[in-house]
Amino acid sequence: MKIGPSIVSADLTCLINVVKILENNGIDFYHVDVMDGNFVPNITVGPDFVKTLRKITEKPIEAHLMISRPDLYVERFIDSGADMITVHIENEYYNEALNKMSKVRKGIAINPETAIEKIIPILDKIDFVLVMTVHPGFSGQKFIESVVPKMKKLKEIQKNYNFEISVDGGINKHTIIKVKDYVDMVCAASGIFSGDITENIKALRI
Ligand code: DX5
Ligand code: ZN
Repeated sequence: MKIGPSIVSADLTCLINVVKILENNGIDFYHVDVMDGNFVPNITVGPDFVKTLRKITEKPIEAHLMISRPDLYVERFIDSGADMITVHIENEYYNEALNKMSKVRKGIAINPETAIEKIIPILDKIDFVLVMTVHPGFSGQKFIESVVPKMKKLKEIQKNYNFEISVDGGINKHTIIKVKDYVDMVCAASGIFSGDITENIKALRI
């Protein structure tokens, strides 16, 4: 299981030190939450943050785009050094955005209340599914347990395709047990950054 810290929730006053700690603890990729205050009720970072992060790490960087017009920004994120880009199936421009993703891994994110059937038609053209286990917008929310049956279903469907399954929202040492059999990748903010980073990462590797 690959571990991807949701890096905008780290102590950004010393990003370079956090990156060192995370990589000494063997994290696999970075998950960058991009929010525009329109698609979700919060604002975070953009392509320039990815560019900064790119300068201080060689690990893959995923940009999780929670913005109204991902199609207009995909190329900027690619130019800034993103290796994986995720758009929401709930976004009306998801297809346009996916079509602009050349040379990066393509992800489709699915909100807790969206049925898995929605993404089936595009599963053959994506590289990973990001299953949201909170409502997108903020870190530190409670894991929504009712999403687990959907993950089980997706794990079954996965046998006929070539995508990975990632999970995002409320993942910590207590909730990881509920999803670990269904995922290839895990994203976490508070589950990694609240408390001791080393211990938290160790606890996620059960
Ligand atoms: C939610 C974001 C998540 C979030 C995870 O909108 O997409 O990546 O930062 O935070 P935790 O792990 O604290 O739920
Ligand atoms: Zn995210």
